[in-house]
Amino acid sequence: MAANNPSKQSVGLSDLTNQMMIEAYTGFHNKFKSMDKQTSDWVRHNFQGTTIVAERDGLSLEFPVDDLRDGDTLVRIEKFPANLEKLVHVNDKLIKELENRGFNQFDVRVIKKQAGSAEEKRKEAVQETNEFVQKVKESIQIRDSASNAVESLMDNGRQGKANTGDIMEFVDSIVKQSSADAISAIASLKESDQTYAHCVDVGAIFQVVYLKTIENMGLKSVFKDEREMLLSSFLHDFGKAKVPKEILDSTARFERDSKEMQLMQAHPVYGAEMLKKMDMPDYIVDMAHYHHVKLDTSMASSYPSGIAFEDIRMEARLIAIIDIYQALVGKRSYKKSWAPPAAMKFIDQLSGVEYDLDIWSEFMKIMGRYPKGSAVELSDGSQAFVVSIPEKDLTRPQVVQVRNGQGEDLEHHTLIDLEVEKDISITKELDSYESFGETVIDLFASLQVI
Ligand SMILES: [Fe+2]
Ligand SMILES: [Fe+2]
Repeated sequence: MAANNPSKQSVGLSDLTNQMMIEAYTGFHNKFKSMDKQTSDWVRHNFQGTTIVAERDGLSLEFPVDDLRDGDTLVRIEKFPANLEKLVHVNDKLIKELENRGFNQFDVRVIKKQAGSAEEKRKEAVQETNEFVQKVKESIQIRDSASNAVESLMDNGRQGKANTGDIMEFVDSIVKQSSADAISAIASLKESDQTYAHCVDVGAIFQVVYLKTIENMGLKSVFKDEREMLLSSFLHDFGKAKVPKEILDSTARFERDSKEMQLMQAHPVYGAEMLKKMDMPDYIVDMAHYHHVKLDTSMASSYPSGIAFEDIRMEARLIAIIDIYQALVGKRSYKKSWAPPAAMKFIDQLSGVEYDLDIWSEFMKIMGRYPKGSAVELSDGSQAFVVSIPEKDLTRPQVVQVRNGQGEDLEHHTLIDLEVEKDISITKELDSYESFGETVIDLFASLQVI
């Protein structure tokens, strides 16, 4: 199995080095042959969660370690869970331990490690990544519930009884659990409908980028607090509550001058009217009113008319950028689907023409060229997910490898910091659905990074 991949090898105890990670224990002292009860108990206890290959009654069987019995002969221990990390990362202490315990042959993967404080930094990054993955896992449900709340808010709005109370519950839980960053990564990994989950994703991304953007631009927040900031972005498409649901939920493409298109394009004006009636502050009204106005207001895709771009506040200009970004990456059911890095590239070309260039460049600094959750191929042919936004070089984020160069799923997900590992780079963005299937979000949420 190790033969085709130069980074994979089968080695004896004396050949183990600190640059290796053990994928399987494959050679054992005689006491692991036809094990007595004490030995098999010991293996079951110390290798919780692993998979065993053993000989039993002349057959070679594979089973979870819990099913190990006395009398079995160990052939292989593999699929180490993350909590047994110390039995996988080779160091002097582990080598001594392995020798004492009678393990003498291993399948290993050769990795690079940094010395001293760099190794410490790496450990911190691993921990942060695992925490982030955990947050993503918890936030999938919050995103779904928030999206349902946006839908019922709009349904109620259609019947003239809009009340932001329901949605505040999710605004609060996103703020309290600081899920915005996780939801913005989910936006990279999961399709969204064009209205409800769209609003939630736009809101989460706004939450992530707004404060940093205004800080970088030397501006002050217009919002009373984080809750209002998130609510304002959730509400940017609130005017769609006045658009009949059949039109809203339709996936058809409407002709430019059709009645449907006119109704759709009226949503910013409807939104502004409704929010004004609800006594929302100016800036929230403006975000709904002007988020489809283009820098070049003569464009057919710029609406409503009657306002000059320079009179539009930055909050509305920023939400316009987030709106198009989310619409592109969330659009999975149409023919053309956009990987987040491809969407970034596309909008990059439009800024200065359709979108505010200064705000766009701040947005890109914060989201990265490869936003969190993007699936990418690396120069060694392996596949990985982006999990950080680099500070120096936007093309070199931290990534978690999930498939090797042969396209095989990896059991251990290694964190690679491309700012450190200079000989590896991103060569291609991947369509995460095409590469990993529709359940890619579950794959991401189950990463256990070492
Ligand atoms: Fe809109
Ligand atoms: Fe929108």
